[in-house]
Amino acid sequence: MQHVDAAHLTDEGDPSDNQRAFRRALGQFATGVTIMTACVGDRLAGVTANSFTSVSLDPPLVLWSLESKAQSLPVFREASHFAVNVLAADQVGLSTRFARSLPDKFSSVDWVAGRSGAPLIAGVAAQFECARAAEHEGGDHLILIGKVERFARFEREVLLFAHGRYGLAVDHPVADVGRRTLVETGDPHPLDDFLLPQLFRAYEHLSAAFEQHREAEGLTINQSRILACLAANPGSSIEALSRLSYVGLATTEDAVSVLLAAGFAAMRPPAAIAITSLGRSRLAGIVARARSFEAERLARIPAADLAALRRALAALGKDG
Ligand SMILES: Cc1cc2nc3c(=O)[nH]c(=O)nc-3n(C[C@H](O)[C@H](O)[C@H](O)COP(=O)(O)O)c2cc1C
Repeated sequence: MQHVDAAHLTDEGDPSDNQRAFRRALGQFATGVTIMTACVGDRLAGVTANSFTSVSLDPPLVLWSLESKAQSLPVFREASHFAVNVLAADQVGLSTRFARSLPDKFSSVDWVAGRSGAPLIAGVAAQFECARAAEHEGGDHLILIGKVERFARFEREVLLFAHGRYGLAVDHPVADVGRRTLVETGDPHPLDDFLLPQLFRAYEHLSAAFEQHREAEGLTINQSRILACLAANPGSSIEALSRLSYVGLATTEDAVSVLLAAGFAAMRPPAAIAITSLGRSRLAGIVARARSFEAERLARIPAADLAALRRALAALGKDG
């Protein structure tokens, strides 16, 4: 196939030839994160899912899909209802907890039973209590459609999932154009005084500028994050690496297979992964680039300003 955008093309093809690359392509579609819950008698089920989507406003329908080999499938199949818990930005821990097949996922989780008994988790951004309206076989997943009987929205930041890892919703710089124009005309916009958007803008700018240095070391951000995690926790399993790095399990599997193939990591049977000396030196290369990148950027700022900035950030990082 001819591509107009060949310079940026990293993967293409038939999904059945390369399932990992297919999954990575799907991961370019950013989503929120939910925990789907259901209850049958005294059996509770809860699963982290990002396949959730709205279907129809009238009637109010939503859908999501559950992997056929999920342990919680029987409960979701039997239950007349399910609840959608849309996670808030500070609920990554809950997301990783419900993304594992644990025996009692709800112990030590703050929740109340909804009208159908399906758990409603505290601290979420939104809840939808649904009656199961239909189910369809969808390849290796079961598609569940629910009719929303009740919803609740809470004023909280939402958790995102994109490129196989967790993220936060930050305004696109385009949304800043009006503000900057005002500043350029010498007329300060009232919101420009706020520190938090300014910190975000600086972070986004620096992180985008560093991207090319990491790419020059031949690793994606997920691969280098897993490599760093492996250096700090040698002998970890894939599951542990996913948990420690906050990178999704499927993406961690992909990253590990690339690191193994490149000789940056090695398997220690049965399931432990070790970092090789080649891996350590590649990681050292990235760290050295990060150090010199930061030094170069900071050299543009007078030393006294920098010292004041560090003091201010340290103070802001503390309560009170
Ligand atoms: C961000 C994220 C999104 C996920 N989305 C889904 C999904 O939509 N459907 C699904 O079946 N599994 C999804 N999973 C994987 C399940 O959460 C995982 O397989 C879980 O162990 C299933 O639990 P169970 O085996 O106890 O049922 C997702 C995992 C993560 C981290």
